[in-house]
Amino acid sequence: QRPAILISRRIFPEVVARLRAHFEVQTNEADAVWSRDELIARLQGKAGVFVPTAEPIDAALLAACPDLRAVCSMAVGYNNIDVAACQAHGVMVTHAPDVLTETTADFGFALLLAAARRVGEAERLLRRGEWTKWSVDFMAGADVHGATLGILGMGRIGQAIARRGALGFGMKVIYHNRSRLPEATEAALGGAERVELDALLQRSDHLMIVVPYSAATHHVIGAAELARMKRGAVLVNIARGGVVDDAALAMALRSGHVGAAGLDVFEGEPAVHPALLDLPNTVLTPHIASASEPTRRAMADLAADNLIGLLATGQGAKTPVPEMRG
Ligand code: GLV
Ligand code: GLV
Repeated sequence: QRPAILISRRIFPEVVARLRAHFEVQTNEADAVWSRDELIARLQGKAGVFVPTAEPIDAALLAACPDLRAVCSMAVGYNNIDVAACQAHGVMVTHAPDVLTETTADFGFALLLAAARRVGEAERLLRRGEWTKWSVDFMAGADVHGATLGILGMGRIGQAIARRGALGFGMKVIYHNRSRLPEATEAALGGAERVELDALLQRSDHLMIVVPYSAATHHVIGAAELARMKRGAVLVNIARGGVVDDAALAMALRSGHVGAAGLDVFEGEPAVHPALLDLPNTVLTPHIASASEPTRRAMADLAADNLIGLLATGQGAKTPVPEMRG
């Protein structure tokens, strides 16, 4: 008898069809956001769950779903999944690295350019009919090319952003990361330099946050860190809400100490801190950094490959989370 799986949000029909060739599949065609109890009820008897977004998979859910053996996420970040609890319950966890790296890095640059060059602010002004005449410093922003780009979190996405900055925009790249990149990689990024967090804050003209969320990175950019940044610097967060203290950021943006921010992720999203919404110098997007059509399909395909490998063909997972790599 074929294993049963749950796909907890609407995904591409082609991917559902691939999964139906191997599994009894329960879907969520209405794309409803299920409560934890609804999710637990639907997981009864399921060996696997395809997790399209940030559904919390924690110890209590695992205890209530004893048949579960595989949790396959189509995101790269997996802070919504308690990996240690999954290990304790013998549940395999996979995520979706690599396939979204370049698309997400593109979007980081889109936010950086938009925030530094005041694209959102200028566009809103034009749409309000307030573009009446030329003036010398009208909508004058900060330059991106040639500036110092600081990157917090130098994983795959951080490196893809560094490549764009160094090779495309002639930027000096500095980064803070637990481990240092190989020297050859640093050299290929125009001499990217690993620095301590404090130096990153003090030296960056533009700061790009790409570090995964965890207890250790909660509010790693708070009021004290924002105060250490260069006056007028631009901050971009494409990592996770909670890495940056949004209330502190709003205050730093209001005072002008931080010049502008490009934010794709928020504490408590889809709610957004009201102070951020009121500020002209913010570019705010609804967690779409990986949302190109081909990349979203590749992410869904990779999650499906992982489910099929783990529960149908016995070939195993393509992309287990790092904690579960053998
Ligand atoms: C998106 O935020 C992801 O982690 O893939
Ligand atoms: C994040 O985990 C990355 O791929 O940079």
